[in-house]
Amino acid sequence: MNNGKYILGIESSCDDTAAAVCLDNMVLSNVIANQKVHEQYGGVVPELASRAHQANIVPVVTEALRQAGIEKKELSAIAYTRGPGLLGSLLVGSCFAKSLAQALNIPAIEINHMQAHILAHFAIRKQSDATPTFPFLCLTVSGGHTQIVKVESPLQMKIIGQTLDDAAGEAFDKISKVIGLPYPGGPLIDKNSKLGNPHAFKFNKSNIANYDFSFSGFKTNVMNCIHNETQKNENFIEQNLNDICASVQHTIINMLMDKIIKAAIDLQIKTVVIAGGVSANSLLRSRLQETGNEMGWNVFIPPFEFCTDNAAMIAVAGYFKYNDNQFSSLADSATARYEW
Ligand code: KG4
Ligand code: ZN
Repeated sequence: MNNGKYILGIESSCDDTAAAVCLDNMVLSNVIANQKVHEQYGGVVPELASRAHQANIVPVVTEALRQAGIEKKELSAIAYTRGPGLLGSLLVGSCFAKSLAQALNIPAIEINHMQAHILAHFAIRKQSDATPTFPFLCLTVSGGHTQIVKVESPLQMKIIGQTLDDAAGEAFDKISKVIGLPYPGGPLIDKNSKLGNPHAFKFNKSNIANYDFSFSGFKTNVMNCIHNETQKNENFIEQNLNDICASVQHTIINMLMDKIIKAAIDLQIKTVVIAGGVSANSLLRSRLQETGNEMGWNVFIPPFEFCTDNAAMIAVAGYFKYNDNQFSSLADSATARYEW
């Protein structure tokens, strides 16, 4: 007899409609519908995102249940992203999740998207998959956030540093737009960097106290440099694309690494993990691993499927809350900003 709980996770905070089924923290299915419609606009158009979520949510949930090989009536709870994110997008997932939970007479569990990115480290595909031990430090880097979080337990986390302006993913995406790459540019900068020289251009790193970050001065510095060089040579970007990408990536990753190293030393924490969309970045992954080897850290890097937005992380976060009887009211409403 299987005593585990089947939890359906639903994620719709930005431009991905995602649903997943977990048996406790074991991922049985992890389905994502990406929205191609935004590419032509160079960024996510909120109104279009909400409409696409409406179109995608039923097929995505149906497919997640099918791949997991279970029926709706076997679910124990439905976890959904309550925030932070685009309000119109969040409303689609949260209304659907609460309605389905009510229809099935099972609890709904509201989830903080950023905490779920961290808890993605507990999403396992097989029992032997390793998970971090507490306490650990997480560098959470996404399109909307850049945070260093001290994680004491699945339900106890504290932000000890964060960006004062742009997020790391936003810096990748905004710079890539200037150099003519389609949205989202982060993965393309990563790809082009492999063929470029990271020392070709020297960009300014920010100098912020404690564990906080700032990317806006750096972004302006890159844009000014590109503007000035293009005035002299109109083919500057095209002739130097890989070097620009490699130099931009190198500087962003250095800024991130400087702070996580400082935090780990100051707090004497030797388990260090990364989470969020930018944790898919190949340089960040290799630099964290190398630094971990030098510093004697236990490093955890999520598999790609759990880095960028996904619903497995929502279901796993729901599993921890379920075990702690943290169910939410059907009156809880989606929230674009989610303080914690
Ligand atoms: O976590 P996520 O999927 O969505 C948010 O919650 O924001 O993160 C998306 C961000 C985008 O800014 C995207 O450009 C960035 O993650 N990203 C990357 C890479 N893959 C995704 N940035 C750099 N290198 C990558 N390989
Ligand atoms: Zn995210």
